[in-house]
Amino acid sequence: MANTVVVGAMWGDESKGKLIDYLAHDKDVVVRWGGGSNAGHTVVVDDQEYKLHLVPAGILHPETLCVVADGVVLDPASFVGELEHLKGRGITCENLKISGNAHVVLPYHRLMDELEEKRKGAKAIGTTGRGIGPAYQDKAARIGIRMREFVDPDLFPSRLAEALEFKNQLLTKIYGVEPLDAKQIVDELTPHAEKLRQYVDDTALRVAYAAKSGKKVLFEGAQATLLDIDLGTYPYVTSSHPAAGGACIGTGLGPTQIDQIIAVTKSYSTRVGAGAFPTEQLNATGDLIRERGAEYGTTTGRPRRCGWLDGVALRYSALVNGLTDLYLGHMDVLVGFDEVKIATAYMLDGKQIEDFPSDQARLSRCEPVYITLPGWKEDVSDITEYDKLPGNARRFVEAVEKHTEVPITMVSTGRRRDQTIFRKP
Ligand code: IMP
Repeated sequence: MANTVVVGAMWGDESKGKLIDYLAHDKDVVVRWGGGSNAGHTVVVDDQEYKLHLVPAGILHPETLCVVADGVVLDPASFVGELEHLKGRGITCENLKISGNAHVVLPYHRLMDELEEKRKGAKAIGTTGRGIGPAYQDKAARIGIRMREFVDPDLFPSRLAEALEFKNQLLTKIYGVEPLDAKQIVDELTPHAEKLRQYVDDTALRVAYAAKSGKKVLFEGAQATLLDIDLGTYPYVTSSHPAAGGACIGTGLGPTQIDQIIAVTKSYSTRVGAGAFPTEQLNATGDLIRERGAEYGTTTGRPRRCGWLDGVALRYSALVNGLTDLYLGHMDVLVGFDEVKIATAYMLDGKQIEDFPSDQARLSRCEPVYITLPGWKEDVSDITEYDKLPGNARRFVEAVEKHTEVPITMVSTGRRRDQTIFRKP
């Protein structure tokens, strides 16, 4: 397949990094289309672990062009930190390009994220605190600062002063905190701007021409479908478009050029932050999944909420993303349970429903209706052929496939690249 989009199927943290890293082998361009340093990918190559937040996972392949596209919001300090860490481990990062149109996350965005969460009190979203929402807010309000301006020393100080004039009114008069100092911010960020200048480029054109000349493009999703600002569980969502359609926004490729859309799901469900989560297990099962699956945030270290696989949410994700393939991961985490469950419907106000309500009010009243399958006890972590999986594990895979009506073409049994089963359904 030429152009492939990878998305998270549900609420994020599906371990998309491993698949993206694997697919990047065969691609010429890897594009990260949205989000910021709120995301976290862990990629394990030759037993070396790389924790990436915003740098595309394709960076580990020096011959692959890695693009941070227009839809991303980039925190300069965190991004430069990531680059320096990678360079320290021998990754040159010469294959990186950043869109001049990507918006910059500035210190007042982080501060506003924190102040807004405090203001919301019990209704807080549980954001990652990385300034993502406020940065997208400025983008939509057309008062944001973009990378092209940020790396221009003749422009950035005046653009910042202009923006800060308004932000300081908000900080002092609405939130009652001290104003920020423009000169101090410029002094702090200028060394980062100098390091990033060499990467800034017209990436949409670069990607479009690459595709036109027959190059293969991989779109690297961050966050996940149910965190999409439109399709997700609003308001407990992020402020960008992590669903598959987002891959065409500001990247340089149109919808007709996408050949394959793969969603990554775990064999169970997790969520971080607030918001309804019908299959959550606030009990020993949830604790066991968390410990076995090391379900703690890559970015924030927060323990993730864990539960049985929400097949209702997964089917919704399959429909709204137009999936061609499902990648079912973390099969090793479910080893040892006597029985495993998949939610295939919900009870809502006394009626059984099959479709996922994407509004918080109805979703929070839903009770899952499960199918229960026998578990498997055998270690699956070194199995590379589908037929060698324990029968009950295969029955689980096939039940998910039947319910979602999307072929499960890959099954993952561990964190390493080689712990993946490719399957023809
Ligand atoms: P924000 O993106 O920091 O504004 O957070 C909004 C919501 O999205 C919160 O519930 C976060 O926990 C969630 N979120 C943001 N990024 C990720 C991610 O990469 N994985 C999982 N959840 C995320």
